Amino acid sequence: MVNMQRQRSKIEENVLLAPYTTMKIGGIARYFTRVFSVEEMRDRLKECSDKGLPFFILGKGSNILFDDRGFFGLVLLNKIDHCSFEGDCLRVGAGYSFSLLGAQTARKGLAGLEFASGIPGTVGGAVFMNAGANGNETSDCLLSVDFVTAGGELLHLKKEDLKFSYRYSSFHEMKGAICAVTFSLKGCDLAKKKQRDLISYRKATQPYGEASAGCAFRNPQGVSAGRLIDECGLKDLSVGGACVSLLHGNFILNKGEASSRDVQELVLLIQQRVKERTGLLLEPEIRFISSREDVRVF
Ligand code: EPU
Repeated sequence: MVNMQRQRSKIEENVLLAPYTTMKIGGIARYFTRVFSVEEMRDRLKECSDKGLPFFILGKGSNILFDDRGFFGLVLLNKIDHCSFEGDCLRVGAGYSFSLLGAQTARKGLAGLEFASGIPGTVGGAVFMNAGANGNETSDCLLSVDFVTAGGELLHLKKEDLKFSYRYSSFHEMKGAICAVTFSLKGCDLAKKKQRDLISYRKATQPYGEASAGCAFRNPQGVSAGRLIDECGLKDLSVGGACVSLLHGNFILNKGEASSRDVQELVLLIQQRVKERTGLLLEPEIRFISSREDVRVF
């Protein structure tokens, strides 16, 4: 007899979150599951909505700080990672590696996502944050996004339906999950060289491969937060196991035993010192995920 039930990953209980983040920080998720398809995402989000259970969609955990107390809800690890061409467009699952996508498309001689190479998140995370580097942003070559709402409804959203700006997308105001993205890329002989140059610059100027959540602060208008932190002489600051990178002032590193509290205290200390010396209040780019439910920015 054919089993008509949809294939679903099992729900695990009490899973340590730290290994699922680039900062290697975070306590235990009460529930945890992997999601491999849009249908599974719809079912799981509907279930959370029916049960009143808080949820969090996790990609590569590269721009977030989980609480040491963990997360009292369901963490859904987005593993929707298909990638194929549909005519001139590239359709990619939100769980696909953004860095890999940048390298693969550039190698094929396609321009638009070269800057993604070296960005340690997923495609979904990059769209959510409108990730960028070297004057390029994810939204530049984006055409549309498939989004599952918290109620389990699938929406096909065109770029014109959405707002994007510096490290911001409309998804900050929406509850649900980005599941697939369509990009439009152009053929260009220089794409591969541009990607190689960008990755070299990144490796020379950023603590590539060390435990961090990328840039800790958004750049104030026209200024590099990293340069400000550097010029304020704060590269020797540390709290517990968290310290400022000597290579780039906007990176907070976990030197091994850092807690989420250490990172939060270091963020506050940097904000305070920069404010005293320059009058500017640095705004965190890292998103702090509180243990109880909603995402909150420090
Ligand atoms: N600088 C210093 N000291 C430092 C860091 C930087 O003097 O400690 C100077 C550099 O020498 C350079 C200038 O500041 O002259 C700008 O530095 P960089 O090129 O590293 O750029 P950024 O503005 O600090 C931004 C993004 C990065 C992105 C790089 C490269 C933000 C918050 N940061 O950094 O994005 O990779 O440009 O394009 O927008 C991220 O968002 O997580 C991120 C890492």
